[in-house]
Order: sequence, then structure tokens, then C-alpha cells
Amino acid sequence: MTEQDVRKGLVGVVADVTAISKVNPETNSLLYRGYPVQELAATQPVDAVAHLLWHGELPTDEQLAEQRRRARLQRALPPELREAIDRMPLDAHPMDEVRTAVSVLGALDTAGAASVLDAVGTPERNRERSLRLFAVLPAIVAYGQRRRRGLGLIEPRDDLDDAANFLWMTFGDEPHPVVAEAFNRSLILYAEHSFNASTFTGRVIASTLSDLYSAVVGAIGALKGPLHGGANEAVMHVFDEIGDAAGVEAWLDRALADKRKIMGFGHRVYKRGDSRVPTMKAALDTLVAHYERPDVAELYDTLERAFTQRKGIYPNLDYPSGPAYNLMGFDTVTFTPLFVAARVIGWTAHIMEQYAANALIRPLSAYDGPDERHVDGYVADE
Ligand code: CMC
Repeated sequence: MTEQDVRKGLVGVVADVTAISKVNPETNSLLYRGYPVQELAATQPVDAVAHLLWHGELPTDEQLAEQRRRARLQRALPPELREAIDRMPLDAHPMDEVRTAVSVLGALDTAGAASVLDAVGTPERNRERSLRLFAVLPAIVAYGQRRRRGLGLIEPRDDLDDAANFLWMTFGDEPHPVVAEAFNRSLILYAEHSFNASTFTGRVIASTLSDLYSAVVGAIGALKGPLHGGANEAVMHVFDEIGDAAGVEAWLDRALADKRKIMGFGHRVYKRGDSRVPTMKAALDTLVAHYERPDVAELYDTLERAFTQRKGIYPNLDYPSGPAYNLMGFDTVTFTPLFVAARVIGWTAHIMEQYAANALIRPLSAYDGPDERHVDGYVADE
């Protein structure tokens, strides 16, 4: 293999097939199992989209009712998990807290599996595990934010849908419908995006026939980085640094002179704009009106205009979702864990797809280290 054959960052490499979602940068579209994500975000609750991604079809009323019944039973934090979370330092990054919590859940759930040969389990078991993670992650994330604010745990409410219950467990108020709707939309937009870095990480781990929890823990680690999911947190740091729309030009001059990456802009696949941005920007606009914060929209629009004019690089989903989560009242460090709570749907769908038609993922590398050499004094065995 020559260095010319190396595709650094796997740019342009098609690593496998998937039936879960299709990203088409030419038509600026994203389909979940064939449905445009914009249509799903406008019409569906996030758990119906989870059913679609896991099973291939939107649920019937009966299927959704049954999935909800089972999910509601698993929304609360198990006591052992709460105990483990309480032992973590309050200044640990919430992504580390969420990653550790999923690892603890895995140890609790897979206890009794005596051998690594039992790691994968049955397809039915993995569907249950996927639902369990989707159901309990909101409690992990919501409790994490409350703990850091010195507040107590709030138990889930069976009468609320997933978006409203998540907000309830975080803030202790029934959310306004505008806020719940924007939040539901963000969860659907974040739920799945083909072979992004975290999903691919999950598939690599699954391909060794390790268990679903291990694959999700690895995916969370990949999501944390600011080039991937960490960007929604990083966008808010940028907004805080800039302050207001009047500060944009001077800030951008400095940032570009320092060769900084502007968080929330650019994408490996979309080069002419991220298909999810208009839908999330519309949700942000409803929040701006609801909270009467035109200053946020002004800063958003001014930075977008200034940066795209100068570099021709467009916003990605993290750009509108960062300020949207800020307006909803989430702490900046909680933004990427919110992404986890949504993307766990796509991760688990991909992990199950990997198990169903597995081939160990093991690429090659081109070597550019020293030529063969020998340790002084070494004498080969006869
Ligand atoms: N700010 C400044 N310059 C940029 C940016 C940016 N956000 N994005 C790309 N560029 C420049 C980059 O410096 C490079 O310029 P040059 O050719 O002169 O060296 C050129 O555009 C190509 O960029 P690249 O980094 O080689 O492209 P990539 O496909 O490897 O990177 C990316 C994609 C997402 C890592 C990058 O755009 C980036 O770092 N963006 C900021 C972080 C971010 O918002 N990440 C979220 C990604 S999408 C949603 C998600 O996964 O959460």
C-alpha cells in the first residue's frame, strides 16, 4: 500500500451499507428509513421516530402504546445508578458523567454473562437494551444538571411525552408547548446521521462482537469532541465570547487571524449547508419569540452572515441547537449530553444492524516509520 492510497480521515470512503438513513449532500436531504427528517420533525414525537429507526417503520397506534408502556417502566434512575452518579465529582464534565452512567448500566444489565462469548445476546435483548437506554438517558442528563445546581432529583411523569418529561425532570415545571415542541424537534434532528464519527465508533466496537452498552460508551467518547457533538457546547462559548451582534466583526477578525475553527460551521459531508439547519433554525425562531430575545437572533444572523461571506462555510445543526438549548434553560455543559440522549437512537439502530450482518472492522495502515533494524547484542535462537 502506498501513501497515495491512504484516505486520511477516511474522507470519501464508503465503509458499509446501511438501511437506516441516507445523507444526500447534492439534494441537501436527510432521510430516515426513506422519510425526510423535516417531515418527521414536524409531525412525530421522538419515540415514534425511535421506533422507525429501530424497526424500519413508523409505529401503529398499538405498537407505539406498547413501546411507551415498556419505556415508562424504565424512565426512573435505578438506585444503584443514582448512587454511582452521586459518587462522581460535581466538576466532572457531564459527558464523562453520562459515559460512566451508561457503563454502570451495562455492568448492571449484563451481570451474570459469564463469558465474552455471551456479550452480544439475542436481537430481542438488544432491542430491549436500546429502549432501556433511550428511556433512562433523560433522567441521567436531567439529574446531572440538577445535581450541579445543588438541586434534588425529580421523578419522571407518566402523563408526559418524552420531550415534555425530559424538560420536567430538568426544571421541575411543565414546559410551555412552544418549548416542548422545539425540544422534540431537536431530539429528532439529532437522532441519526449515518456513518458519523460516533456511530462509526459504535459499529467498530459492535463488529468485535462486544456488547451494545460497550459500543454506546465508545460512541459517547467520540461524540464528546468539539469537532463532533461537543460543537453545540462550543457554539455557546463562542456566543458568550462575542457578547452581542455589534462585537461580531472584530471577534471574527481576531479568530480568523488566530486560525481558529469557528464552532457550529462546516461539515465533512455537507459542503453547501446542513439539511437539518433550516428546521432547527425555525425552532430557534419560535423560542426567540417565546422568550422575547431578539438579541439572540441578531447575534446568530450576524455571525452566520459574516462567516459565510468570508469563508463560504455554512452552519451545521450545532449552530442553531446551541442557542436554542441555552434559551430553554439548559447549562452550556449539558448540551452535548442532550445530543447523546437523542443520538442513542441512531447508535443502537446501527449497532443492531452491524450485529445482523457483521464483518470485523479492521482497516490497514501504510507504514512510514524506520526501516527494519536490530537490537544490539541480540542473537537469534537456533
Ligand atoms: N472554521 C474555520 N475554518 C473551517 C471550518 C470552521 N468551522 N470548517 C472548515 N474550515 C476550513 C478548514 O480550516 C480547511 O481550510 P484549509 O483548506 O484552508 O485548511 C477547510 O475549511 C476544510 O476543512 P476541514 O477541517 O479539512 O474539513 P473536514 O471535512 O475535515 O471538517 C469539520 C469538518 C466539521 C471537522 C470542520 O468543519 C470543523 O472543525 N467545524 C467546526 C466544528 C463543528 O462545528 N463540528 C460539528 C460538525 S457537524 C455536527 C456534529 O457532528 O455535531
